[in-house]
Amino acid sequence: MKRPVGVFDSGIGGLSVLRALRAELPHQSFVYVADSGHAPYGEREPGHVIERSQAITQYLIRQHDIQALVVACNTATAAAIGLLRQQHPELPIVGVEPALKPAAASSRTHRVGVMATRGTLQSAKFQALLASLQGRAEFVLQPCDGLADAIEHQDAARIQALCRSYTQAMGRYGSAAGEIDTVVLGCTHYPFAADTLHALMGDVVQLVESGAPVARQTRRVLREPASSGHPNLRFGTTGQVEQLRSAVQRWLQPGAAVDKLHI
Ligand code: DGL
Repeated sequence: MKRPVGVFDSGIGGLSVLRALRAELPHQSFVYVADSGHAPYGEREPGHVIERSQAITQYLIRQHDIQALVVACNTATAAAIGLLRQQHPELPIVGVEPALKPAAASSRTHRVGVMATRGTLQSAKFQALLASLQGRAEFVLQPCDGLADAIEHQDAARIQALCRSYTQAMGRYGSAAGEIDTVVLGCTHYPFAADTLHALMGDVVQLVESGAPVARQTRRVLREPASSGHPNLRFGTTGQVEQLRSAVQRWLQPGAAVDKLHI
C-alpha cells in the first residue's frame, strides 16, 4: 500500500483542508490527527503550539510512516512550520496561511476582511505576508477569539453570536467604494461557519479559504502519489472521539472509524 499523507489541526478545522485534498487526490490515503485535547491553539502561547506540532509530527512519522505532512492549521503553520522543516528535512511539509494575496487580487472595492485566530494575526509570518501586500488592498484584521472553539463543539448559538459580533466589528459589506466585498477565512475551522457568515454579510461578499491551493501544492510535492486503488482514511483525536466522529460524518465521510490518541 502507498504511504499515507499526514494531516493535522488543533481539532476538526483541518477537515476543511482534507476535503480539498480528497478532491484533488482521490486515490491517496490520509491519516488525520485532531489535537482537540490541547485546543484551541489560537489563543495559546506559540510555545504550546510548537510543542504539540512537534509531538504530532513525530507520531505521524513513527506510527504511520507518512510520505508528506500537511499542517492544516494556520496557527500551527505560523508558529511551527519553519522548525518542523528544519527538524525533518527529508519530509515534504505543506502549510496553510490566510489567502490574502488571492483575496486582494479579486476584491473590487480593495477592502478585504481577514478573520483569523489571535495567534495567526500576531505571528511574524503573518505580519511579513501583510507587509508584502502593502498597497494592494486595505486589510481589516479581525481576531476571532472563541470562534474555532464554538465550531469545534458545534455550538450553533455561540457560532451565531460570535460571527455576528465579529462581522459587525469589521465594518460595512457591499460592492460600493469603502465597503468590504471579500473576506479571508484565515482559520481552517471557519469554512464550517460559512453559511452563518454569508447570512450575516450578504451574498455579495466572497469568502476566500485556502483548502484548494493547499491541496494543489500537496499534489506537487508528493513523490509517490497514489493514482489508483481504494484509499485508506484514518482519523484520530487527542480529545473526544465522538466529537471528531460526528464532524467527519457531517462534512466528510459517514461511518468512518475514529481512534483515541495519546500523543
Ligand atoms: N484551525 C486552526 C487554524 O487554522 C486553529 C484553531 C484554534 O485552535 O484556535 O488556525
